[in-house]
Amino acid sequence: MKYITTIADLREVHKRNVPKAFFDYVDRGSYSEDTLRANQADLQKLKFRQRILVDISKRDLSTTILGEKASLPLICAPVGSTGMQYGDGEIHACRAAQAAGIPYTLSTMSINSIEDVAENVEKPFWFQLYVMKDRGFIKELIQRAIAAKCSALVLTVDLQVIGQRHQDIKNGLSVPPKIYSLKNMIDFASKPSWLIGTLRAKRRNFGNIAGFVKDANDLESVSEWTASQFDTSLNWKDIEWIRSIWPGKLIVKGIHDVEDAREVLKTGAQAMVVSNHGGRQLDGAPSSISVLPGIVQAVGSDIEIMFDSGIRSGQDVMRALALGAKSCMIGRAYVHGLGAYGEAGVTKALDILAKELSVTMGLCGVNTIAEIDGHVLVK
Ligand code: FNR
Repeated sequence: MKYITTIADLREVHKRNVPKAFFDYVDRGSYSEDTLRANQADLQKLKFRQRILVDISKRDLSTTILGEKASLPLICAPVGSTGMQYGDGEIHACRAAQAAGIPYTLSTMSINSIEDVAENVEKPFWFQLYVMKDRGFIKELIQRAIAAKCSALVLTVDLQVIGQRHQDIKNGLSVPPKIYSLKNMIDFASKPSWLIGTLRAKRRNFGNIAGFVKDANDLESVSEWTASQFDTSLNWKDIEWIRSIWPGKLIVKGIHDVEDAREVLKTGAQAMVVSNHGGRQLDGAPSSISVLPGIVQAVGSDIEIMFDSGIRSGQDVMRALALGAKSCMIGRAYVHGLGAYGEAGVTKALDILAKELSVTMGLCGVNTIAEIDGHVLVK
């Protein structure tokens, strides 16, 4: 890993190691991918003020996230099917995040179940919830997260309908993978370490869903069942219901509009994530970074604001913090590490981001996360 110096390098190794359908599932975005591209492009448009001769010898990247100490202003975002990038991927990613001192969020659509992860990591992790039509199942899922001592619930609200990713259809993506397709057989056989790793793993299906839902087996794959289960009737009132079951910290993820941000305040949630789901949902939406300042201005003093979509470097983390985010979720950045080298790759990804952030802080004349604000950017 000596010559791996960027998240882009990890992405290249990820692409080589993992079957095309699963790599593309991570890498691509919805429809024309306009929003996917804008997320990164708009971050890069923000330029830093280079400052000199400030004592930067005591730089400290630690912060607090929802009142808990974190060694970096980062959180591993919920990413579905992580275990298809690397066997037992959710357990490995969670271990790497915890070793680095940051929170890890397990997706509803994970391969390892809540219980698998809880049994194999040392500290509590966050659980992300998609609300589905089968409310009995959702109640059970929340209760399982409580039993596993999950320390926050991330309620994702930007996926009532699924933004189509053309490439997933062209690749015939499915979970569990269709082994009997010739195209897949050839692809899988050419990725032997991935194949052995996923065959040895605990599961190759959605661990939180398969086995817990009776009619999931009626459809050809659990992904089809799940797609049919996303609840288009979900609305603000449902958050009250969730809060009646979940007693802990609540984070609402997928906020992109000032009016919605104001509504979140009424729910009593402790935090919100300004996010367009990494350009995987509403194609044509502005970049996540371009809507962040307006949301911070409207509600930033009343609620903790997290940011995601497009972070690929420590410089990007600095840009989001400069515009008022308290911390950043990363999705693809850590999954590229996982697909490339498993747990060590996630550690590498976090290390790259931390070092880039530290140097950027230094060159902007800043020593602490709390000092980062609009003054580090060129107006
Ligand atoms: C996601 N994301 C996501 N979000 C969520 O709430 N639940 C989920 O199951 C998933 N699944 C998922 C799969 C994949 C492959 C990706 C790339 C993303 C969105 C994720 O949490 C986060 O919002 C984005 O990844 C942020 O954008 P970047 O960092 O990937 O650019």
